[in-house]
Amino acid sequence: MVVDKTYPFNRIIIAIDGYSSCGKSTTARQVAAALNYSYIDTGAMYRAVTLYLLQNRIELNDTAAMQNALHAIRIEFNFNPISRCNETYLNGLNVEREIRTQYVANSVSEVSAIPEVRRAMVAQQQLMGHKRGVVMDGRDIGTHVFPKAELKIFMSADPLIRAQRRQLELREKGECVELSEIVENIKKRDHNDTTRTESPLRRADDAQLLDTSFMAIHEQVAWVVEQAKIAMMKLTHTTSMA
Ligand code: DC
Repeated sequence: MVVDKTYPFNRIIIAIDGYSSCGKSTTARQVAAALNYSYIDTGAMYRAVTLYLLQNRIELNDTAAMQNALHAIRIEFNFNPISRCNETYLNGLNVEREIRTQYVANSVSEVSAIPEVRRAMVAQQQLMGHKRGVVMDGRDIGTHVFPKAELKIFMSADPLIRAQRRQLELREKGECVELSEIVENIKKRDHNDTTRTESPLRRADDAQLLDTSFMAIHEQVAWVVEQAKIAMMKLTHTTSMA
């Protein structure tokens, strides 16, 4: 992992991992804004790869085609001043909307379990975070991408509450999906994420648990910002003692 020592030492890496639809991305984005940090949504990167593979009809077990595809895929995040959010670009095209559809959601955990895909994405994520001052959310950030992150949070919530949140999110985007279908999709993704051989979703030993079942987003954000300030203070103290 490359860590650029020219950046201020009290800028920390915040790793937020956890199950899908716990509010990870919304929390991470708002925490990044509050601290003036950059925000990297690693789920969006796996979604963008999935979209590319689906669009180009690439068989997931065709290793050669997969390697070619990974070389052809360029993922970037660009800030949209109107929505005030980072949006995902795949080979120069804004795919923010497409990657959030159920069509992509149905295949993303299968794609994200492929070792070659993970290796390529993890390398990019480590590069994106090397300047520090970053909030990164995903499934393996605290365990694999930045195992030495100064602050690690593991988010979880009741599956039914997560499904209701996801249904609302999809409805706002004009997509109507039955709650039972979403519950099934969430359960399947949880199972795939936690049981895959390559970097399964698990709470790092030093991650703090945040159950968001009965929390509002602003409460989650405030809690994480507080933990971040404590982690920054600890880091400043350690650095000044060294
Ligand atoms: O966070 P999300 O729901 O947008 O993630 C989409 C999928 O990508 C999800 O099935 C898990 C996978 N993922 C992963 O395997 N590792 C990450 N660091 C981030 C997401």
